[in-house]
Amino acid sequence: METENQYTLSTYQLGLEYAKQQDQNDPLASYRNRFHIPKDKNGNELIYMTGNSLGLQPITTKDYINQELEDWANLGVEGHHEARHPWLPYHEFLTENMANVVGAKPIEVVVMNTLTANLHLMMVSFYKPTQRRYKILIEADAFPSDKYAVESQLRHHGFDATDGLILWKARKGDELANYEDFETILKEQGEEIALVMIGGVNYYTGQFFDIKRITDLGHKHGCMVGFDCAHGAGNVELNLHDSGADFAVWCTYKYLNSGPGSLGGCFVHERHANRKDLNRFTGWWSHNKETRFKMRDEFDQLPGAEGWQLSNPPILSMAAIRASLDIFSEIGMEKLTLKSKQLTGYFEFLLKQLGEDVIKIITPSNPAERGCQLSIQVKSANKKLHDKLTASGVISDWRQPDVIRCAPVPLYNTFEDVYTMVERLKNILNG
Ligand SMILES: Cc1ncc(COP(=O)(O)O)c(C=O)c1O
Repeated sequence: METENQYTLSTYQLGLEYAKQQDQNDPLASYRNRFHIPKDKNGNELIYMTGNSLGLQPITTKDYINQELEDWANLGVEGHHEARHPWLPYHEFLTENMANVVGAKPIEVVVMNTLTANLHLMMVSFYKPTQRRYKILIEADAFPSDKYAVESQLRHHGFDATDGLILWKARKGDELANYEDFETILKEQGEEIALVMIGGVNYYTGQFFDIKRITDLGHKHGCMVGFDCAHGAGNVELNLHDSGADFAVWCTYKYLNSGPGSLGGCFVHERHANRKDLNRFTGWWSHNKETRFKMRDEFDQLPGAEGWQLSNPPILSMAAIRASLDIFSEIGMEKLTLKSKQLTGYFEFLLKQLGEDVIKIITPSNPAERGCQLSIQVKSANKKLHDKLTASGVISDWRQPDVIRCAPVPLYNTFEDVYTMVERLKNILNG
């Protein structure tokens, strides 16, 4: 991971003219036109800063879905083989592009199910508790669904969820988790920990964890290591293969712009690709593709991440993912994260002008330790502030008690969006 702040705050300048100039010089600027930008009731474009929650719809999504609707209308069941993108192998059209987004090999990646369901499937295989080693280590402010999922796995295996869960907490007065504390937990309790399960980018603070460092430490102490990359996929360079992580799961409705409730992604490291000893839940889609429709065969497991599929997948949702991934493959994560660092650095620069007595950015200031999201704590604010921001045409996300999460997304947000957002926040705070 890089540690240097490439874009020091002095890189940036104040004023609307500067923002406009940055947009003019932005090689990715035209991609905004490839998305539907939500508008207010007077037809004015909103400042949409919640790609960390639900990404915007690519213009092409409708065509990709329509193609499948047409093929279904015209071909019926024959579409499984005869559709322009045949449905039987449809998930394979997504694999390579998705693998590139998360830094993995195609054999390590599959699009299937939804995030929490995939997390459970991964724990069926990679959470193998014994009487001595049964605990699960997660970050203290993990996304609630992850916490509920790991607690239920503990209970499922007959353990007490409170005793079995170890929380990696930020120190008193800090918001960010500290690696020294992580090492101490492993040193002191490593032999009791079966699984380390961390959010690759924390949903609340925006902290991008060092996935390789966490994996190496976990493995050194004999633990399995997995990540929830819901806030990482399409946002930061995850390099999942090189990290050596055992598994990762993510969704596609945030930075991957594939629509509400769309399918999730799943990574299983190549070294597990051909393992038959791992316990797993299976279905006909985990069975060898060549013989799947002979129906009577003994189960013959597919190698790689595909071997964790259960069911034939929803093609309409996959069509939306294909539309979005085609855009990602045109640009590549390297160029996207380069712009992201500039845009978020500019956002940080402008927010800092508001003064430390007014706001505190709890997201790390090192660009290598964050994606595009900044979590802004507004001193003595309450939900009314967020309501005013929304009324002013800025769509952001409010977390109790006093944090606004904002994500300028490099695919469709502009420097002018960022400028306008901060101006409106300033006016509200001064008003
Ligand atoms: C970090 C994180 N984990 C898990 C989830 C739950 O995802 P799903 O409802 O797709 O299972 C979300 C949803 O926003 C999330 O942000």
